[in-house]
Parts: sequence; C-alpha cells; structure tokens
Amino acid sequence: MTDQPAADTDVFEIMRTTRAMRRLRPDPVPDDLIRRILEAGSAAANGGNTQRWRFLVVKDPAIKRAVQQLYQRAFDEVIGPRYHAAAPPPGVSAERYQRQHGAVEYLTRHFHEAPVWIVACLDEGSATPTRWSGASIYPAVQNMLLAARALGLGSTLTTRHLLYEAEAEAALGLPPGVHSYAILPIGYPMGHFGPVGRGALAEIVYGDHWGEPWTGLAAG
Ligand SMILES: Cc1cc2nc3c(=O)[nH]c(=O)nc-3n(C[C@H](O)[C@H](O)[C@H](O)COP(=O)(O)O)c2cc1C
Repeated sequence: MTDQPAADTDVFEIMRTTRAMRRLRPDPVPDDLIRRILEAGSAAANGGNTQRWRFLVVKDPAIKRAVQQLYQRAFDEVIGPRYHAAAPPPGVSAERYQRQHGAVEYLTRHFHEAPVWIVACLDEGSATPTRWSGASIYPAVQNMLLAARALGLGSTLTTRHLLYEAEAEAALGLPPGVHSYAILPIGYPMGHFGPVGRGALAEIVYGDHWGEPWTGLAAG
C-alpha cells in the first residue's frame, strides 16, 4: 500500500521532518492507524485537563467535497493573491517557496481526495474563544501531525476553511457550541519526507534581555 518507511521513532528526527505534506494518494488509510493518531492527539496538554477537544473523522466524500469548495473559494478570493505577493520565509529559498506554492494549489484542488480528515474541534458552549482555547487544541493537533509522520502518513495543518467558518462548520455538521480549529487531511504521501525549512535560532532566541544573543547557542 505504501513505500514509505514504517514507524520512525526518534522524536527529534520526526519533528525535524514533519513537513506539510500536501500531495497525498487517495489509497485508504487503515482505521487502526487513524486510531493511533487520535490517541496521540488525546495525550496532549490542555488547559486544566478539561479535554474539551472533540475529533471528527471524516471519510464521507460529499462532506469533504462541500468543504473543499469553500477551501477553493478561500484560495481564489484571499489566499492565492496573498501568496503570490509574499517573499520567501526565513530559511526557505525562492525556488523552494515556489514549489510550496505549487503544493498549496495542488492541495486546494485535491483537498477532498485525501482519504481521511481529522477535524480538530473544541466544545466551547457559549464561551467566547480566546488564546487559551487555541492553546488547548493545537498541542493535540501537533501531536497528531507528528504521529502521522511517525506512521509514514502525510498531513498538513489547515485552517483556511475558517475564512468561511459558519458555512464550513455547517457543511461539517458541527452542533452549536462546537467549533473547528483545524482540518488535517491525511493520506500516504506521494513524495518523501524531508527536513523543514526554518531560519536560524540566532535570529529568534534572546538571552535575559530582548534583542541580546543567548550565549547557550554557542554550546551547540
Ligand atoms: C495556523 C496554521 C494554519 C495553516 N493553514 C494552512 C492551510 O489552510 N493550508 C495549507 O496548505 N497549509 C496551512 N498551514 C501550513 C503552513 O503553511 C506550513 O506549516 C508552513 O508553510 C511550514 O511548512 P513546512 O512545515 O512544510 O516547512 C497552516 C499552518 C498553521 C500553523
């Protein structure tokens, strides 16, 4: 079913190579692997251990297609023009950034063809979402991305559907008080995992006083 290596287990290597994998094969993913990803998600930190997270596993082609149409519209109206005007991020060459554009467009067109989605939600009732809300779901999302990578499955943290949040959440059939924070399309990747492109630590880490170098970096 896949030519990707089975579970890698070195956590630092997994983190270093958990890239956004946007080109996915439509081959089915065994439920057992999805269950392991969900277990990794539900092992994450969350405020007060209240575990208000809920995870919707979506395979239904009609539901995925309805959300993909919103995802495509968001690209056409907002994201696409923004991407084309942007400079490459730190640690990413112009050529690599160009390849990313291609992959983003690919995922936009094929979002619904990923065999499984995990929609990460919070059951918030009538509470207004705050930064603490996100802080109680994105650790689970990251755990799931790392678990998928460890199992040889590709995914991408996506939030673009939130540009049309009400329509997307209606298409997903979320009940009142439940909100989505990310959709993870999951499948076997067409390409290979590789190192992420990021800027140097020296540009983003300070010691004691903002703007001053942290001397510990020299220890590496
Ligand atoms: C909050 C957030 C929202 C994102 N939304 C999307 C999205 O809607 N679609 C997408 O293709 N990638 C999305 N991404 C993935 C980022 O584009 C990706 O993490 C970044 O470009 C780094 O890519 P890399 O990990 O492959 O180096 C999102 C990432 C984050 C953290």
